[in-house]
Amino acid sequence: MSETLHLPESGTKQEVYAAILPQIEAVMAGVDDLVANLANIAAILKQAFDFHWVGFYRTAAPGLLMLGPFQGPLACVSIPFDKGVCGAAARLKETQIVDDVEAFPGHIACSSLSRSEIVVPLVHQGETKLVLDVDSDKLRDFDSIDRDWLERVVSLIETQHFAR
Ligand code: SME
Repeated sequence: MSETLHLPESGTKQEVYAAILPQIEAVMAGVDDLVANLANIAAILKQAFDFHWVGFYRTAAPGLLMLGPFQGPLACVSIPFDKGVCGAAARLKETQIVDDVEAFPGHIACSSLSRSEIVVPLVHQGETKLVLDVDSDKLRDFDSIDRDWLERVVSLIETQHFAR
């Protein structure tokens, strides 16, 4: 796999996701290191969509998320499961889409520019192992298309790193 990302020159976000998913798989192929793969996935999503912030928090202790590889502005280091959108996704074990972060009770404002957010948890054998967090500087920037594709990305990570 070359280290160049190939993106459609124009296209719907569905088409962009469809173009990057096989490239994410190719980049991960044969790479056993979780952090290396998370770092490249964050880079690919950032380059493809220019999201304000995209990255991972990993479960570091029961009920506690710790910052992992990301692209974007400086971020909060640790997030308890009972705080923020990331905590909600980790605790509820379900993808969270927040159209307006200011309307989400307990949202953690790492960046004042964030307006909407999607967080997808990786749940393996009933436990949240990590979350993929994507923040946008636009309101209502995420929908079921993002959910479907980002859940596929997380599922690739689960298959390669947890389902063994
Ligand atoms: N806004 C998130 C915190 C993480 S940062 O956005 C990078 C939350 O409420 O969980």
